[in-house]
Amino acid sequence: MKKSLLIHGDNIEGLSYLLIDKKLKGKIDLVYIDPPFATGGNFTITNGRATTISNSRNGNIAYTDTIKGKDFIEFLRERLILIKELLSEKGSIYLHIDYKIGHYVKVMMDKVFGIENFRNDITRVKCNPKNFDRIGFGNVKDLILFYTKSSNPIWNEPREKYTEKDFEKLFPKTDRQGRRYTTVPIHAPGETENGKSNRQFKGIMPPQGRHWRTDVETLEQWDKEGLIEWSSTGNPRKIIYADEREGKRVQDIWEYKDPQYPTYPTEKNSDILDLIINTSSNADSIVLDCFCGSGTTLKSAQTNNRKWIGIDQSEYAIKATIEKIETVEGDLFIAKPNYEFVVLKDTISNCQQRLNASRKEVLNSKEVQQEVQKNNILLK
Ligand SMILES: C[S@@+](CC[C@H](N)C(=O)[O-])C[C@H]1O[C@@H](n2cnc3c(N)ncnc32)[C@H](O)[C@@H]1O
Repeated sequence: MKKSLLIHGDNIEGLSYLLIDKKLKGKIDLVYIDPPFATGGNFTITNGRATTISNSRNGNIAYTDTIKGKDFIEFLRERLILIKELLSEKGSIYLHIDYKIGHYVKVMMDKVFGIENFRNDITRVKCNPKNFDRIGFGNVKDLILFYTKSSNPIWNEPREKYTEKDFEKLFPKTDRQGRRYTTVPIHAPGETENGKSNRQFKGIMPPQGRHWRTDVETLEQWDKEGLIEWSSTGNPRKIIYADEREGKRVQDIWEYKDPQYPTYPTEKNSDILDLIINTSSNADSIVLDCFCGSGTTLKSAQTNNRKWIGIDQSEYAIKATIEKIETVEGDLFIAKPNYEFVVLKDTISNCQQRLNASRKEVLNSKEVQQEVQKNNILLK
């Protein structure tokens, strides 16, 4: 794909277009979607400002969210099946949803992507505590369901910066040069027989039922470099310096509140997208959001130098996306947006027919037939 792509139309059409016309089967490394949450409401925009509640009586409808219950699950499932076809073997999908319908979506996604490919149910803290009177606890979170296509996805381990408090808690000691550090045991549970980690180190054996965390030669090297601290009772521990750690592992509770004055209803915090894009895609990846709204994902992909594809059926969404994307001016490090804009007018049943025809074509192709014969595969 030479250019990024913005598509105005229903995403069933859009996804079929990507599979059939753009031939992107297995080519997309990352999908983030934030579909409607089956709230039963309409989301409006008044004088260029989005309302933050559904069913506001004022303004123009940016999008409706009226498909509910099992119809909603089916609506998503149809789209996820196409998304799975588009995902590369190292691909990932992140689906943003709320606590009311999220668990049903999880069960359906387990079936589409395979429960073995489920990675996380990320809790996203979306707002400050609420004090509305209601029976039930205040709701400050929604969820992001994360699946990979296979067991070998793109994974660029993200790190979170330590806070001053973290430094004090995790690295409580200071050496003569004033460097903060902590110490960890150099042995771990389990015994190895005649292994390299079960020999004497400085005349001592690992405690009973344990083995050295590494071979004795490495322990000797650490000791030479002053990286072993010996307690007054002769117990050795490894020194870990705070300034050599890149940060702490990111956990599955993320606090990213959404913009207070959104340009589009339910516009998401772009820091969420920066984190997802940097973790689960590379510079040569294509990032897809087929419920793109105001283009938060697309702008983040652009500023992180990825190619992107956005789809939305709302005119307001397309307008908001173009405005957002055009704010990326481009400089030495970030490319200026360069994208194709496509308006789709196909009907959904036409798309279905085109998809079926294209699948038949693939099944009847010489290559697939040869594979079928070679491997004795039975096609239903
Ligand atoms: C929750 S909003 C996405 C907001 C977005 N994440 C942002 O930060 O601006 C959901 C979007 O999905 C779009 N949408 C709903 N059903 C669709 C469909 N069948 N095809 C394409 N877009 C659809 C709506 O128009 C709406 O813009």
